Amino acid sequence: MKNTVVLYGSTTGNTEAVAKTIAHELDAAIFDVAARPISEIPKYQNLVLGTSTMGLGDLQDDWDAFLPVLEKAEFTGKKVALFGLGDAEGYPDSFVDAMGIIFNALKNKGCTIVGQVASDAYEFDDSAALTDGLFVGLPLDEDNESDLTEKRLKAWIELLKQEFS
Ligand SMILES: Cc1cc2nc3c(=O)[nH]c(=O)nc-3n(C[C@H](O)[C@H](O)[C@H](O)COP(=O)(O)O)c2cc1C
Repeated sequence: MKNTVVLYGSTTGNTEAVAKTIAHELDAAIFDVAARPISEIPKYQNLVLGTSTMGLGDLQDDWDAFLPVLEKAEFTGKKVALFGLGDAEGYPDSFVDAMGIIFNALKNKGCTIVGQVASDAYEFDDSAALTDGLFVGLPLDEDNESDLTEKRLKAWIELLKQEFS
């Protein structure tokens, strides 16, 4: 999909690896937000944004710097999908919170957020990435459930192909 871009921020490489798979499957462009790829945003109709959660419910560091810049871009009419890497056993009260931080920054910008995921297949206590019982995007847990990543990703990518078509 030449109208689709994947933007990711990754501290230890987990989000980066998933971002590369998504970009490959969607035939999309891909950029690390550490490079502040703000000039790319107007070129794409569909954006897939990926972040890990660090600190205790914080955005990944490169996203922390980039999100205030991204928020100023024009989003009207675009479709945005989110994915988040987290650790539900180590951080059960802030599982994939960073995905919720990006969601909140973009939800009133005139774009449509697509790719929500049911939460019942995940074990955690709380998450800032929930709205109406659904995750705002795809949570992945490489620390505890890496065996489920491929299946979760495959289903989500199929959903995105429909949403973006
Ligand atoms: C210091 C530290 C804090 C973390 N805090 C959270 C957290 O609050 N919530 C969560 O879901 N995961 C948390 N994690 C887990 C990471 O998000 C997870 O390991 C992720 O796969 C890292 O992805 P990355 O390599 O792309 O940065 C934390 C990890 C570290 C090392």
